[in-house]
Amino acid sequence: MNLHIFKNAQDASQAVYEQYRDRLEKGAHVLGLATGSTPEGLYELLSQSDLDFSDLYSINLDEYYGLASDHPQSYAYFMNQHLFRHKPFKASFLPNGLAQDIEAELERYNQIIQNHPIDLQLLGVGNNGHIGFNEPGTPKDSLTHYVQLTEETIDANQRFFNHRDEVPSTAISMGIASILSAKEIIVMAFGPQKAWAIAQAFEGPVSEQVPLSFLQTHPRVTFYLDQAAASQLSRELRQAHPLEGGESLS
Ligand code: GLP
Repeated sequence: MNLHIFKNAQDASQAVYEQYRDRLEKGAHVLGLATGSTPEGLYELLSQSDLDFSDLYSINLDEYYGLASDHPQSYAYFMNQHLFRHKPFKASFLPNGLAQDIEAELERYNQIIQNHPIDLQLLGVGNNGHIGFNEPGTPKDSLTHYVQLTEETIDANQRFFNHRDEVPSTAISMGIASILSAKEIIVMAFGPQKAWAIAQAFEGPVSEQVPLSFLQTHPRVTFYLDQAAASQLSRELRQAHPLEGGESLS
């Protein structure tokens, strides 16, 4: 796995933005997108750019179950606010958080992924090492599935809601196999709360207990971290990847 460690999140977002420019120039056609605070800087750069997405498809990783697409905390709303209203795609897909027939919705989403193979998948990281909403224990061969969120994830995401009991406890998420089917994967992680998961993913075993570690089995993955997210990596690994955009890590 490739690793870039930056002075701060802003420099890392700029570097990821440049990767997007390059991949779009090279013909990337289907973008797998992520939500959360981590990619906000990237989406701002993409929104302000001269890049044209009107011939591209986007497929999002996940959606809370029980929130309508116009709910301010739904991922559909987030994507619209941060990217789609500035840069419309030819078509943008997210799981339907209000689907009555969940099995049919999972099948619909798997079919979308199969019909639009993802060129470049963007990932953030949950504090417990989840990707999308693939919580610890999710098998490597999983496709889109209905998820019971862990208490830790609900705690981490409650900052976006008025009260903890407003945070949905379930979601629909692309599976690990869906994510690994992308031709290329970019991971962004910022802040000390991500340091444990990052260290496990790089230096621990491939394990269902840390879904991020499954990326070790993919041939083309690049991590873009700030110093804090890299802080629990071994000294050897950090020395081999000097800080970009500033002085070396101590
Ligand atoms: C949620 C999302 C993930 C995201 C994670 C981290 O759980 N389902 O896709 O990576 O939050 O969010 P943040 O970037 O806000 O730390």
